[in-house]
Parts: sequence; structure tokens; C-alpha cells
Amino acid sequence: MIKKVSHIAVAVPDIEEAAKFYTDKLGLKLVGREDVVGTKVTVGFIPVGETRIELVQPAAPDSPITKFLETRGPGLQHICFEVDDVAAELKRLDAAGVKLIDKVPHPGAHGTMVGFLHPSATGGVLVELSQQM
Ligand code: CO
Repeated sequence: MIKKVSHIAVAVPDIEEAAKFYTDKLGLKLVGREDVVGTKVTVGFIPVGETRIELVQPAAPDSPITKFLETRGPGLQHICFEVDDVAAELKRLDAAGVKLIDKVPHPGAHGTMVGFLHPSATGGVLVELSQQM
């Protein structure tokens, strides 16, 4: 079951540089950053009410975000929904014929377990499901 929008991820070449718009112009706060080793990205967190903007910067040349920035430039990268049971949701969607990138969850930022749905199954939006552990 989907509980809320966890975060909206924006691909950026440089977190501090990109954060200036959100902090200086919108008055939001960059509250921290975290290296997500498994997916080779560094994430900057900007809370907005119950959700947050995540600025996602490549942490290695072979990071998926490096490729995203090269082909599409900086911008909206994915939307993440918080669910109560990510493994069960992935299994349910797989059985329903939804094309998945991850059939089993893997560690995400903030101590979560996450899995991605393929954009071809969602109308062109990369969708992440995440569960607080
Ligand atoms: Co995410």
C-alpha cells in the first residue's frame, strides 16, 4: 500500500550549486547529504513538508546519474512513493505484468529498502518504491 510521496529526485552535477535555488530563492534548507554506495550517487536532502526534494549527484563515472546528465541534462529524475512493504509491492506489480527494474529491493538512502519500476510501464516516469526499515 502506498502511504505518501517520499521524495522527488532531481539529477544535478553538483549538490551545493544546485541547492542554491532551493535555499536562496525558495527559502528551503539543505539538511544533509549521504553517499549511497550501492547506486554510486550522493544525495542532498531538502525537506518540504512531509516529503523532500533529493538532489542526486553522481559519485562515480559509471554512476547511472552520470549517464542521465550526459543524455538529458540536469532535471527531474524520479518520483518515490513510500510503501509499507516494498518486497510485497514489487512482487504484486511483477505478477500484474508491470515491467520492473528491480524485482527485489536493495538499500537506498536514509536506511530504506527500495526498488524501481521501469519508465516504459509508468508513462515515462521513473518510479521508486521505498520502505522505512
Ligand atoms: Co530516490
